[in-house]
Amino acid sequence: MHYLLNHIIKFIKITLLLFFSVFFVSPVNAELTVEDIIKSRKALFSKNYSTAKRVQAFSTKGDFEKAKKLMIEMSENYKVLLDLFPENTQEGFKTEALLIIWEEKDTYNALMQKASDDIIKLTSLIDNTNDIRGTLQQLMWSNCKACHSKYRMPH
Ligand code: HEC
Repeated sequence: MHYLLNHIIKFIKITLLLFFSVFFVSPVNAELTVEDIIKSRKALFSKNYSTAKRVQAFSTKGDFEKAKKLMIEMSENYKVLLDLFPENTQEGFKTEALLIIWEEKDTYNALMQKASDDIIKLTSLIDNTNDIRGTLQQLMWSNCKACHSKYRMPH
């Protein structure tokens, strides 16, 4: 009898553990629907686009402190984006993501990580260059194009 009781208690503990780990171990998209995920990645890319234009404007004016703050924001957004391409979000809700993303997920993630790292490099180079335009092109804009040309539908 005692033996059985121990077993039941153990079973309940494991069930509880599993139950909670589903909710707490993978917090990013455990409760988000496919629609939520696709919409939030689109919103984040759009936000990065408008932020990039502001980075360009502030840098051109020589307002580097403001530009750098925005660069750090963009870098963080890229890191969030890494988690917004789970397997079940390959189609629907007007996604422009191409299937090749999931065929070569590691290469894709590496490009996203590079975009995030490059813009951090930019924070330390931007006020030390005579070629602001070229530096922004190289460490910010070129990463958009490198990724879009292969992984986003022509638009
Ligand atoms: C590593 C890949 C990658 C990088 C880097 C990247 N993008 Fe994208 N971008 C995508 C993909 C994939 C989509 C399509 C997402 C979807 O529709 O689900 C997208 C979509 C967009 C969209 C459309 C959002 C919408 O509302 O549909 C804009 C705008 C955009 N990107 C701008 C940028 C800009 C600007 C940069 C650089 C500053 C950039 N992206 C960097 C992969 C990337």
